[in-house]
Amino acid sequence: MAEDLNIHLGTKQEQYEALIPQIQGLLQGENNLVANLANISAALKEQFNWWWVGFYWIHEDELVLGPFQGPVACTRIKKGRGVCGGAWEQEKTLIVADVEKFPGHIACSSASKSEIVVPVYQHNNIVGVLDVDSEHLSHFDEIDQLYLEKIVALLPSL
Ligand code: SME
Repeated sequence: MAEDLNIHLGTKQEQYEALIPQIQGLLQGENNLVANLANISAALKEQFNWWWVGFYWIHEDELVLGPFQGPVACTRIKKGRGVCGGAWEQEKTLIVADVEKFPGHIACSSASKSEIVVPVYQHNNIVGVLDVDSEHLSHFDEIDQLYLEKIVALLPSL
């Protein structure tokens, strides 16, 4: 497919619905993990212009920074630490309306106000997380959870 993304306006749900087939197109026939994580991050950033969007990948006992779009970020996060390490430990999506009220939140950027972290699975094992940060409070909800979980499930199993 052409590498240009068509940006859609409309409700958040409509934006995700228009984006998902395009992400499927970008991933089709490509099983290089870094390439796919990079394009998912870029597609989400282009469509939604979030402050920070990207992946942390599990390496031994830590999450290590992977492909992302946005300002520089901390490179390593221990299991159970911060929102990312919490989503890994609990193996579930975490939505944080106000990061300052989340005990142990890791402030990679003082501009970040709210956050969603979605686990990524391969062969039923958690392998990493998708992390999205917003400079606005209460930016993420169950619609983001639903669609971001669908998007990370599009990654081909390696
Ligand atoms: N805030 C995250 C750390 C990663 S950065 O936001 C990119 C956390 O608490 O896990």
